[in-house]
Order: sequence, then structure tokens, then C-alpha cells
Amino acid sequence: MKTFPDGFYWGAATSAFQVEGGITNMDWEHAASQGLVPKLGRAADHYNRYEADFDIAKELGHNAHRFSIEWARIEPEEGKFNMDAIEHYKKVLEALKKRNITPFITLWHFTLPLWFSESGGFERKDSPQIFARYCAFVVKHLQERCRYFSTINEPNVFASHGWLFGAWPPFKRGRLLWIKFGKPDGTWKSAQTLSHSNILKYLRVTNNLSRSHNAAYDAIKDIAPNVDVSIVKHVRVFQANWNPLNKLLACIARYAQSGRFLNQVVKKCDSIGLNYYRHTKFGDTQTYALTDMGWKIFPEGIEFALKYLSRYKKPIYISEAGIADAKDTRRADYIQRQVTGVWNAIKDGVDVRGHMYWSLLDNYELALGYEKRFGLVEINYETLERRIRPSALVYKRICENNAVE
Ligand code: BGC
Repeated sequence: MKTFPDGFYWGAATSAFQVEGGITNMDWEHAASQGLVPKLGRAADHYNRYEADFDIAKELGHNAHRFSIEWARIEPEEGKFNMDAIEHYKKVLEALKKRNITPFITLWHFTLPLWFSESGGFERKDSPQIFARYCAFVVKHLQERCRYFSTINEPNVFASHGWLFGAWPPFKRGRLLWIKFGKPDGTWKSAQTLSHSNILKYLRVTNNLSRSHNAAYDAIKDIAPNVDVSIVKHVRVFQANWNPLNKLLACIARYAQSGRFLNQVVKKCDSIGLNYYRHTKFGDTQTYALTDMGWKIFPEGIEFALKYLSRYKKPIYISEAGIADAKDTRRADYIQRQVTGVWNAIKDGVDVRGHMYWSLLDNYELALGYEKRFGLVEINYETLERRIRPSALVYKRICENNAVE
């Protein structure tokens, strides 16, 4: 048995717009109404069914749960805050508390209020102040019920999909001489703008995102000095074979994808959230089985992602890691290998404090709709019936034993 430290957090994650349903007034819903991305609709209706969903999480042995707040619900118009939405999230936190499940809140997970995206979103020079004001408002009202707050989910993924690949709102696609970033498929094609200047905009957005995190950190600490504030960073693992050129490529890729951003925010992080899904090995000759997303199956890579992050000397929470596997034939093995990777990293001295599988429920995958199935719990979108997948029971054993075999 490979045992984890006492008090280790075990659970799963969701994000508001991917499971809640019924969100209006935001950029993705607007894009869906134009036929550019699949419709969101009622999703898993988690907004109304969170109690029952947390019963399932409890039954599955989880003692932690990561979820996000929908900005468009809280601030539907610029500077106007909706207390009913705050009341809703207070009830969500109460429901977790009743079940002895520790909450981890992400303040912003990809989707933007329409007023903000239409006025330039994170291209706006004043976006850090706008974002910090929103974050401070939420933390002010929820701090009594929650200690862990992440500001931004996957800043680089957000910026690259929106401003380099043209695949997510605002559908801007970069070009550098003859090179066009991303793939021109999907219905969003008609909405894409392709230009050299989008690369500069991408850089501006990533810089504004790091400034936004830093401003939010300060604003949160002013009103709630004791909460733990983190960034959630997607780390793609880049490795190389023996070839020095490949090693150099891996170094550059690591810096561009993770190092550059993390260096800008790490001073204002009490901890770091890691999202791990993918790896690339330059010069690799191995073949891999693929997930339903077409991603190479290499859950062991999480160990390298953790070791990479350990240079920042902050506690690390795995905020997401998981597999799309509609048939549930690979998930159990994947989870066991992933958790073993986490244990290896801890054994080698990395300060990892929790593991949140992505995702508790099947959900809306960006920008693919409801076909990809990441959930420990399967959702029947006709009836909204929940069904626990067999792999969830394998994870339950790990959570309950605080150990992996
Ligand atoms: C995101 C999730 C997404 C998952 C699977 C992460 O990049 O935070 O919202 O569903 O990966 O693609």
C-alpha cells in the first residue's frame, strides 16, 4: 500500500458553466446562440441538484470538492452585483459543510459576463481592476465558509484558444508569416479573424491575466488575509529523448507554456493548483493508447508536472486531472496510475496536499458539447439521471484508504 499524508484532500472538480445549466448573459452562451459553439442548455442541472450530487460525492468517499463561481451570475452588469447569486453559492457551501467536504472555490473558470467580453474582456487595460473587484466581492461574502480560493483557471489555455487558435470566444486566430496557429475546423470558423496582430493581442491578454491575478491577490488579502489564494495552472509535460535539439525544444516549450506565466504570479500565490492532462516528448518513438479526446494516455506524467512545479516551493493541490472515457474501460487503471504518480512525487519531497479528479460529473466540454465523458458519474442528458461509473468505486477505495495499492 502506498499511503498518503494524513489530512490529504481527496475529491473531484467541476466548473460552473460546464455543469450548472441555465446561465445567460455570458460569452459562451452568446456564441452558442449564434451557432458557433454547441448549446449549453440545462447541462447536468447541477445548479438545482447540487445537494444530490454532493450526496454522491460523499458516498464516493470524497472529503474535498472543487467548483467555480459563475462571474455572469454575480456581476450581470458592470459594477452591479447580484446578492441572490451569492446566496445560492452560500447554500452550495453549506451543503458541502453538512457533508464534511472541504470546498475549493475557483473564482473564474473560462466564461465571461457578456458586458465584459463585448467591451474587450482581458484585452482591456483596466481588466485587472475589474477582475480584482469581482474576486474581492465574492471572497468578502464567502470567506466565512471557504478557505481556498483560486483566481484563474488555466490562463494560458484560455488565451491560446481565444487569441491564437481562434477556437473559443472571441475566436481570434494568430498568424506568423505563413504559419497559421490552430486548426480551422468547427463551426466557429466563420467567426474567426486571422491576423498577425492577434499574436500581440495574445501576449497582451496573458500579461493582463497575470496582472489580474496579482491585483486580485492584493484585493482579496486586504479583506481576507487568512484565506489561501492560488492560481490554477495547466502544466503540459514536455520531455525529450537524448537529442540536444529536442532537449532545447522541450525547455522552450516548458517556458512558453508554464514558466513565463508562473514567474509573473508566483510571488502572489499561497499555493498552486495543478491541472494535468497531456505530455509531449520530442523525439518520442513510443506509441500510446488514446483517450476519447484523442490525447495520449500517460497519467504517470503527473509526477513530472508536480516535480516541475516544486521549484516554486509552494504547496500544490491537484485541481484537475482525468480522462474522457465514455465506456469507462480505461478510467480505473488511469486513475490508479495517476495517483501512483502523485505518490511518487510526494515520496520524493514534493509538497502535494490534495487530488481532485476531473470531473465529478459528465459535463460540457469546450467547445465540443456533451459528447466527451470525463465524469465519475454519468449523466443521462434526457432524464438527468445520475449513474455512478464502476471506476468511481476504484477511486472511492483510494480516497477512503488514503492510499493506492
Ligand atoms: C479545463 C476543463 C476541461 C478539461 C478537459 C481543463 O483544461 O479546466 O474545463 O473540461 O480541461 O478538457
